[in-house]
Amino acid sequence: MNPNSDILGLGIESSCDETAAAVVRSGNEVLSNCIFSQISLHKEYFGVVPEIASRAHLEVINGLIAKALHDAGIGFSDLSYIAATNRPGLVGSLLIGLQSAKAISFALKKPLVAVNHLEAHLYAPFLEGHSLEFPFIGLLVSGGNTALYLVHDVGNMELIGKTVDDAVGEAFDKVAKFLSLEYPGGPVIEKLAKNAQKKNILFPKILPDPEENFRFSYSGIKTAVINYCKANPRIPKEEIVFSFQERALEILARRLFDAVKKFGVGRIVVAGGVAANGRLREIIDEYRSGDETIIIPSKILCTDNAAMAAGIGYQYFVRGIKSPLDTDVYARG
Ligand code: KG4
Repeated sequence: MNPNSDILGLGIESSCDETAAAVVRSGNEVLSNCIFSQISLHKEYFGVVPEIASRAHLEVINGLIAKALHDAGIGFSDLSYIAATNRPGLVGSLLIGLQSAKAISFALKKPLVAVNHLEAHLYAPFLEGHSLEFPFIGLLVSGGNTALYLVHDVGNMELIGKTVDDAVGEAFDKVAKFLSLEYPGGPVIEKLAKNAQKKNILFPKILPDPEENFRFSYSGIKTAVINYCKANPRIPKEEIVFSFQERALEILARRLFDAVKKFGVGRIVVAGGVAANGRLREIIDEYRSGDETIIIPSKILCTDNAAMAAGIGYQYFVRGIKSPLDTDVYARG
């Protein structure tokens, strides 16, 4: 029997507007995955209000941890380690999750493992049967991040490109706000775009495509959408969002496959909230040459969750890497 087959880890995630707790067995089997989404609290502001987020995390975190253990059918004493996100994210929000994890770790005398939220996102598909093999190209697309990594190993992610301004999810949210749609913009835009009759508005390509340039930029397309709408007030919203979505996603696929070519790595992981977009999955398929292995988590593991924190936490735990109780939180990764 694999000596690591019964290692149970509690994951805690509170970096932004989801409070989450989960139990994972041996780094690859999700026994429970509890998520409290704060979307309804932030909706009216069309974005996450840090103070509201921290307070909401504080109110629900203990209940979520209890539920995660209950759903997994285990008690605190069954845990081998406690993993919590400590970077990057909203500092006040991160503190709630990390402090909770520290308290449990201290009381149980079980190791604390502080994890990087971005590395956790890229780990998500390895909770669903994919085997963890390196290297891979990681495309991380969310409300706060748009970045490409060459992932060499656990704890060894080489940043090869990122956005110079807005993140792609942020652009979806801002365009939705301008069009008076709902927050968060991504799922609403994806749904509305399916109703577009005419598909011929062409927003500018986001950046020229010089070889080996892995930068992203989303503030230009957002402004182009706003200017176009002001100049053409009668164009139906579905046509606007269709073309916006095509352009916004196309650049991700182009950069991704440029990186595949440059680094000669055909194993790809796409993760983060925007990876839930069905059209992104289609566009990536259109761009692939056929030889690549493309791994995208299921929708529930694309958005913020704690199973991914417990999962990557396991990888550190089995390597003997743990975090001291004075570990801090960091806004940036
Ligand atoms: O990873 P995530 O849950 O957390 C943050 O980064 O906060 O990502 C949330 C982001 C939001 O900007 C949301 O609009 C976007 O992911 N998103 C989507 C879709 N679902 C969520 N963007 C495009 N299409 C979607 N279906």
